[in-house]
Amino acid sequence: MQAIRDAILAGASGEDLAALPLPGSYRAAHVRRDEADMFAGVESVDKDPRKSLHVSEVAVPELAPDEAYVAVMASSINFNTVWTSIFEPLPTFGFLDRLGKESAWGARHALDYHVVGSDASGVVLRVGSAVRNWRTGDRVVIHCNYVDDQDPSAHDDSMLAANQRIWGFESNFGGLADLTVVKANQLMPKARHLSWEEAAVSALCNSTAYRMLVSRNGAAMKQGDRVLVWGATGGLGSYAVQHVLNGGGTPVGVVSSPDKVDLLHGMGVEAVIDRRAAGYRFWSDEHTQDESEWRRFGKDVRGLVGVDPDIVFEHPGRQTMGASVFVCKRAGTIVTCAATSGYMIEYDNRHLWMKLKTIKGSHFANYREAWDANQLICDGKVVPPLSALYALEEVGEAAYQVHHNLHEGKIGVLCLAPEAGLGIDDAELRQRVGVDRITHFRGHRA
Ligand SMILES: NC(=O)c1ccc[n+]([C@@H]2O[C@H](COP(=O)([O-])OP(=O)(O)OC[C@H]3O[C@@H](n4cnc5c(N)ncnc54)[C@H](OP(=O)(O)O)[C@@H]3O)[C@@H](O)[C@H]2O)c1
Repeated sequence: MQAIRDAILAGASGEDLAALPLPGSYRAAHVRRDEADMFAGVESVDKDPRKSLHVSEVAVPELAPDEAYVAVMASSINFNTVWTSIFEPLPTFGFLDRLGKESAWGARHALDYHVVGSDASGVVLRVGSAVRNWRTGDRVVIHCNYVDDQDPSAHDDSMLAANQRIWGFESNFGGLADLTVVKANQLMPKARHLSWEEAAVSALCNSTAYRMLVSRNGAAMKQGDRVLVWGATGGLGSYAVQHVLNGGGTPVGVVSSPDKVDLLHGMGVEAVIDRRAAGYRFWSDEHTQDESEWRRFGKDVRGLVGVDPDIVFEHPGRQTMGASVFVCKRAGTIVTCAATSGYMIEYDNRHLWMKLKTIKGSHFANYREAWDANQLICDGKVVPPLSALYALEEVGEAAYQVHHNLHEGKIGVLCLAPEAGLGIDDAELRQRVGVDRITHFRGHRA
């Protein structure tokens, strides 16, 4: 990989890269099947990704006709890497084994190690014989919707495919590595004005937030909508607030520190609630929710934007869902893609049916949605909320930060890129988009 990395850094052409031999192995972050029980009996919060995530050489898998090898310059931490590394709610080896039974190519994935990571920026090294639109040397980012396009269920909305998977979570050979193997229909152009690490952090969270809010498959937000965004400086939330602002809506961001309030104000989000300062106790004990606290929260939201939110952007799950259903406007939509604090949800159904509200489930994004969300990044209309950067060897610490909610925005990981700031191809566009905007989260941390 060293020769490939040097060639990329020296600006090698596709032809030059095609002439370089591929290695037999590559450096990758992975969990091990024989360690899947290592945290048995340990509380979730104490399960430590630094113990379970390993970085070492693994074998380069064979390439299927519809796939590409990509030299990964940078990647990012998503919450799914936290789930894999703490083996919750289940060890991800079950996903790999199921994929392994699907086809001869699928069998490559059922290994005793799982290479994690669902984001990457990099350079195409080789394409399979069936790949039409991509060539060696293309600079790309990778979205994580892994779909078998021979399945009829994948052809209305590919997120509805019976065997839809998330690359690097439900498949092997993920992006936290120096090389990855992906389907060609996961590739998208890399934004020319961004560095490798800035480009690497968006595909998963930006596309997810786009589908949840902008797409007809999600809440189909319209101009003027008030949108309550939980975790508004987190991975998903920091894209969600940008989509709301771009779409002529008003975000109400909920965060948990004055620092994060500040960060949002700097992005142009005026209505912000510090949930920790407000001290909401939606649950009075483990089994009982407190409607008076939902009311207090609703009053605070109305105090900021005058009305109840048209849309609630949900992902914390058990801790917040009761409040989300309560505060959402009559006939409004609660759109949810996750349940970080617990997936057995409780809410008062009277508030849902009497006020004709909708709870809408959403999961990642189809290729069209991911492509359109990526175009917003390429045009500089959405900027990456990269706040911190780790070397691949430090991936356990990076995942630990996300597990413990110690981060803001997105954490980037350098893979083949030896340092930050490389890979920018259009400095003029970068200036036009605004370096301060692009580096807002990093500058804030510094
Ligand atoms: N289905 C999908 O396609 C999809 C895609 C991406 C992510 N996800 C899931 O979505 C969840 C969030 O992902 P992310 O990347 O945004 O994670 P993240 O970067 O950790 O951000 C989540 C934010 O949620 C807030 N939060 C955490 N616990 C909370 C609680 N109990 N009550 C209120 N707010 C809470 C935190 O903000 P404050 O502390 O500042 O309030 C945090 O910044 C994860 O479970 C992830 O697996 C699903």
